[in-house]
Amino acid sequence: MQQLSVRHLLGIKDLTPADIQLIFETADNFKEVLSRTIKKVPSLRDITIANVFFENSTRTRLSFELAEKRLSADIINFSASGSSVKKGETLLDTVNNILAMKVDMIVMRHASAGAPHFLSRHIKANIVNAGDGTHEHPTQALLDSFSIREKYGEVGGKKIAIIGDILHSRVALSNIFALKKLGAEVMVCGPATLLPRYISELGVKVELDVKKALAWCDVANVLRIQLERQQMKYFPSLREYTLYYGIDKKLLDTLDKEITIMHPGPINRGVELSSDAADSHHSIILNQVENGVAIRMAVLYLLASKTS
Ligand code: CP
Repeated sequence: MQQLSVRHLLGIKDLTPADIQLIFETADNFKEVLSRTIKKVPSLRDITIANVFFENSTRTRLSFELAEKRLSADIINFSASGSSVKKGETLLDTVNNILAMKVDMIVMRHASAGAPHFLSRHIKANIVNAGDGTHEHPTQALLDSFSIREKYGEVGGKKIAIIGDILHSRVALSNIFALKKLGAEVMVCGPATLLPRYISELGVKVELDVKKALAWCDVANVLRIQLERQQMKYFPSLREYTLYYGIDKKLLDTLDKEITIMHPGPINRGVELSSDAADSHHSIILNQVENGVAIRMAVLYLLASKTS
């Protein structure tokens, strides 16, 4: 049986293109399972997984929980709010206490970049990074690329523009790593203040004009403005951001070709994306969410199956 080259999924940076293809092929099989009347397989029947969320989440948390249930794993859920973290318990103590209850895998979201990497140096259980600060969100990037592959047959050679708050986005960084490993051309677009200074060193094109980015790309992955991570003002107002970078149906209709609109969610409707664009035939946003379950089933299954 083919195996992943890693025993944790900390970031896309650590994966080989062959790892990503293996995850996609495994997700293809699980997507077929999810189309059946009985959507459950016994693959992880003897495995216990803890979903440890130190930061808010809707899609990622529910998607992991459903993926685990579809694989017949036993699961426990931990939220920092309402836990003994509020009494001063450290991350490592919290996780070691969870592991003492005979847990095999940790799925963790944390506000600090590098938190899952730190854990991986101190614990034996497999770790899946469900988003660490502004760093990486590997399963989001996998489901994004998987959705592009589903729409176009392949990711290689496609032109993908990632538009919005690139500076604070873990989705942007993981997407850049995944798309480049799969042979796509990648552009980032946003106000100069929301583009990391050294972003072009990652081999991506940089564009400040959203109309030019849309005219160039096959797929626009639109990101929200992450106000919760911004310590200063990066642009005058949300109204002005929408005026220059907001994407609506009228703008899409000015293009001389059909492009695909993606968004990792949560959408700030009327800011980066209008409802008439988000809900239009261009959008594959809910397909991304659907594919997230199969991708997370594949990741959990492949990590649990790794023998050395
Ligand atoms: N895309 C994503 O990570 O959404 P949540 O924050 O709701 O999990």
